[in-house]
Amino acid sequence: MCGIVAYVGNKPCQQLLIEGLKRLEYRGYDSAGCAVIQDGALRVVKAVGRVSNLEDRLEAIGSFTGTIGMAHTRWATHGGVTDVNAHPHTDDKVGIALIHNGIIENYAALKTYLEEKGHVFKSQTDTEVLAMLIGELYEGDLEKAVQAALREVTGAYAICVICEKEPSTLVVARKGSPLIVGIGNGEYIVASDASAIVSHTTQAMTLADYNVVKITPQGFRTSTIHDVPVTPKIEQLELELQEIELGGYRHFMQKEIFEQPKSLRNCFRGRCDAKEGRVILGGLADHAKELNKVRRISLAAQGTALHAAMIGQYLFEDLAKIPARAEYASEFRYRNPIIEDGTAIIAVSQSGETADTLAGLHEAKERGAFALGVINVVGSSIARETDAGVYLRVGPEIGVASTKAFTGQVAVLTMIALYLGRRRFMSAEQCTELLTALDSVPEKIERILTQDAAIRAVTQKYCDRENWLFLGRGYNYPTALEGALKLKEISYIHAEGMPAAEMKHGPIALINEGMPAVFIANKGRQYEKVLSNIQEVRARGGHVIAVATECDEHIKRYAEDVLYIPDIPEPLSPMLAVVPLQLMAYHAAVIRGHDVDKPRNLAKSVTVE
Ligand code: F6R
Repeated sequence: MCGIVAYVGNKPCQQLLIEGLKRLEYRGYDSAGCAVIQDGALRVVKAVGRVSNLEDRLEAIGSFTGTIGMAHTRWATHGGVTDVNAHPHTDDKVGIALIHNGIIENYAALKTYLEEKGHVFKSQTDTEVLAMLIGELYEGDLEKAVQAALREVTGAYAICVICEKEPSTLVVARKGSPLIVGIGNGEYIVASDASAIVSHTTQAMTLADYNVVKITPQGFRTSTIHDVPVTPKIEQLELELQEIELGGYRHFMQKEIFEQPKSLRNCFRGRCDAKEGRVILGGLADHAKELNKVRRISLAAQGTALHAAMIGQYLFEDLAKIPARAEYASEFRYRNPIIEDGTAIIAVSQSGETADTLAGLHEAKERGAFALGVINVVGSSIARETDAGVYLRVGPEIGVASTKAFTGQVAVLTMIALYLGRRRFMSAEQCTELLTALDSVPEKIERILTQDAAIRAVTQKYCDRENWLFLGRGYNYPTALEGALKLKEISYIHAEGMPAAEMKHGPIALINEGMPAVFIANKGRQYEKVLSNIQEVRARGGHVIAVATECDEHIKRYAEDVLYIPDIPEPLSPMLAVVPLQLMAYHAAVIRGHDVDKPRNLAKSVTVE
């Protein structure tokens, strides 16, 4: 969602701030702004739309040479997409500017209090309230004013604050929203995401909740909002620059689809011992006692991660014989869930910052569940709040439409299911068989990727149609949901995913002449039944595109177009079946002329409930 980058040091910072914002563009936003202290005075520039619009405005004014500043990309929550609502927000009486990710939940009460004190608000945002509150509490020390204001605030925040009365000081703080302080040579770069820092320094401090850092070119001081000193934790950022660059691909989504063989090899490395029929998961190793007690698993996630979690539900019941239920974390949170002794909650999330998933996790933990995370971003909020977990290790996902994280999530859930299965009833032979097949997944995805041109040609035939169906059964029912989500989020085509058998209970009414219906019809327990469902669509004039198992010639009698995937045991088939669907969605969006990496209205990491 929103992005933060800030700088204090000895260099003019305008260019660095703009470059940082460009690195954060992938997160999704609808306006941008920056503030620099120039010759002792605060200068603020904002623009609706892309970062390039902000750049144009800055160019028109002439470059700032100030060595302290901050910039922001805003994804609107409180108040429309306007220049006035864009960050930074200011308190003009004191000369304070503030940028903010998150939501100030008690902003209405604070606003009334500040209005009574004579403050006049320009915007409709919760952030301006915080800027004014800091101004109200300012008594000549910015750090103290920020601490005092944050003691009054409920909600989530990552903030950066500068003040023209203290022109070398940047104060930053966080609770619930990520913020990292990159430490350079006499300079500091603060950002909401390591990708805006890594081209300058790889040494960084990650803030814990309620931490406040006062930074000047001479050094920094870390404390809590109650001014208790905190020993900073400085770490080496793992991120490589090439991981966040396009490297010859046209879009990050395309790059990440093609990266899947590599990302899955990283995910499996050192974790699968096919010879011995065992799975080694370091993140679970110290929790044998709790894991042995698990009698029921709840999986909580949103969007693509939920589709992976739904496959996890099949895996846990099938391979580990543990009752499992996957659901929207946002619904789980508010439906008074029953957590019995022996319940484990698994939060599945690429970013580890999704507010709905985090809230679901809190609810389950409060009710006594043992909490596991299946997360990509190391050290993220969800990763920190779980008792144990397994990282995806698929590398940073920049494309807004999640692809390699999905296959990584399914891969990790498969390994956890095998791990738990082996602790219960599964024989080493059975585990060996599945681990050997799991090991073949990257190479099999490589084979699917060689069909890219053919998949594009099939997509081209149908991508002018406004309504599509995606149908699958068993393990590939969630894959069908994922295929539909991918298509709608980047090509804006209306698509429905559902269990193939459900279609005849109502949605079949939608089928008319020429409507594309994508069936996942790989060889498996329900193959014959899927063929019957295909006939029901064909009989009503629908066009069938089948994702089928290599060498299945029979399917050609049923489907107009066939995309082949290699044979694999059914529990592992979603990792292959999803790849042609990802490519179809990608090509449909490109052919229809959309900006694949900046889909309208979407944000990469959704940090509001
Ligand atoms: C879709 C997509 C979203 C995310 C969802 C959860 O392509 O990316 O549906 O999957 O917002 O995000 P994470 O996995 O970060 O919790």
